[in-house]
Amino acid sequence: MFESARLDDDHTLTGFDCGKESLNRWLVEHARRADDAGVAHVYVWTRRGEANVCAYFAICPTEVVRSDDGVPGSMAGGYSRIPGYLIARLAIDASLRGRGYGEQLLLDALGKAVAASSIGGGRLIIVDALDDEAQAFYEHYHFVPVRHRERRLVMKVSTAAEALGAPRHD
Ligand SMILES: CC(C)(COP(=O)(O)OP(=O)(O)OC[C@H]1O[C@@H](n2cnc3c(N)ncnc32)[C@H](O)[C@@H]1OP(=O)(O)O)[C@@H](O)C(=O)NCCC(=O)NCCS
Repeated sequence: MFESARLDDDHTLTGFDCGKESLNRWLVEHARRADDAGVAHVYVWTRRGEANVCAYFAICPTEVVRSDDGVPGSMAGGYSRIPGYLIARLAIDASLRGRGYGEQLLLDALGKAVAASSIGGGRLIIVDALDDEAQAFYEHYHFVPVRHRERRLVMKVSTAAEALGAPRHD
């Protein structure tokens, strides 16, 4: 029903409404610039043959400092600085909510992080939940909250790879 693709000039961004104004605005005002500048890659979902964006996420490389964030030991694997990928934003149009597409979108994003790590390394997938509701969504998928940074959650790349049936790289 949907196509997932890297954001390009032909996609229509206006009209997207996930119910969270900051995420709607970021897509329209910042997504293209962030992608063009290479600070993140933005992926969007459209209905086949249509240009209107109905879901999106952004992903970028990052590094967490174990002691600053309070990353659990098993996640850090004995390292004080841990490279990984930040799913910087993830949202689906409110009209599509509650039908399992959010899960598919998250799997799409995890797949990109796993693929990136298979080339460039990276141990953790990190999310910064916008609010309690978003945090509960990520916890539902077994992301683990760090101790010292509110609403930051992590998952090992190897855990995501296993869930996706992708080869392990740790
Ligand atoms: C978060 C979001 C992507 C979820 O999409 P969705 O279409 O509502 O989710 P789905 O229908 O795919 O739900 C999949 C599963 O997650 C669960 N789930 C969904 N939202 C949840 C929440 N806030 N807390 C706990 N579980 C949640 C569902 O119950 C379902 O579980 P099940 O498969 O065991 O029945 C969507 O609500 C959204 O775009 N929200 C606004 C943006 C946002 O907050 N993004 C978060 C990142 S900052």
